[in-house]
Amino acid sequence: MLITENLGKTYNTKIRKSLFKKEKVVTEAVKGLSMEIKEGQIVGLLGVNGAGKTTTIKMLSTLLEPTNGTISIDGYDILKDTIKVKKLINMVAGGERMIYWRLTGKENLWYYGQLYNIPNDILNKRMDRLLKLVDLEKSKDVPVERYSKGMKQRLQIARGLINNPKYIFMDEPTLGLDAPIAKELREYTKKLAFEEGKAILLTSHYMHEVEELCDYLYILDEGRLITEGTTKDIALIANEERILKIELANFSKELEEAINELCDNTQSTLNLSKKEILSEITITSSKDVSSEIAAILSNNNASIRKFSLVEPKLEDAIIKLSRRNEYA
Ligand SMILES: Nc1ncnc2c1ncn2[C@@H]1O[C@H](COP(=O)(O)OP(=O)(O)O)[C@@H](O)[C@H]1O
Ligand SMILES: [Mg+2]
Repeated sequence: MLITENLGKTYNTKIRKSLFKKEKVVTEAVKGLSMEIKEGQIVGLLGVNGAGKTTTIKMLSTLLEPTNGTISIDGYDILKDTIKVKKLINMVAGGERMIYWRLTGKENLWYYGQLYNIPNDILNKRMDRLLKLVDLEKSKDVPVERYSKGMKQRLQIARGLINNPKYIFMDEPTLGLDAPIAKELREYTKKLAFEEGKAILLTSHYMHEVEELCDYLYILDEGRLITEGTTKDIALIANEERILKIELANFSKELEEAINELCDNTQSTLNLSKKEILSEITITSSKDVSSEIAAILSNNNASIRKFSLVEPKLEDAIIKLSRRNEYA
């Protein structure tokens, strides 16, 4: 398990105001962040630009030293047992950073493998397996500068797995990728967590991606943790109203009365549009009344064509949460 406690990072920078004047700028990029990531779990780290996501990932990846707090990975302290920790972790960054364009795909992996002192026989086997995993076997001897965007991104993943890490930190891994390539990458990510038991921390701007992949979320705003919880629970925050949409092929007076009564009792609003063939019913409620409605429909022998509960959207929840924080 990965545990951070009260993690913080302050950047001290100087900006030149004029030829002789420099101004000191102090940015508290991450403040008091405590979180946990377990094996086989994909955890999302969300927040608007400048929230502190990349800073957090850099601290977890040992690229930046925290100003306060602790990070422990499988019981090892990231600062005291750095060599042990480095064997357990790796990161996958979005875009085209961290790969050498003049080298071939295979040479890139070999180079990074050497940095980890992986014995040659193990490294050779691992490279073969990874090139197969990311579907770059055929192009392994081609210089990376001739790779497509998707191929470069897949090589990034292979690079991030070269030390067979248990913990993988992904910072916007699908940024700027075409939809089919991004989809492919999401599939790999799931495979890594659910089949290979890796623990993954993911940052992303794409809410549908987060909804698809992550089961637990930490939401940062100006460096501070504002909410954490399962993706479902957080999405529900936005949806104080649940919307049930039903289409029926027959509609009786008794049925209408029964639905009306339920709506009165549950402070729900009913919207009815009766048409010749199909009748559409929309019920908006603060509670989930779907099972009560289902019982009424069945008691009245309604012929149901459509019955759907509109799923709450994570995107709305995030907007709502950051707004709430603005006024807190
Ligand atoms: N190297 C740096 N030096 C000074 N300030 C930085 C540096 N990197 C990031 N920051 C500042 O720290 C805050 C958090 O940035 P970052 O971690 O990149 O956020 P995110 O990845 O969520 O967009 C921002 O205010 C940013 O301007
Ligand atoms: Mg970032």
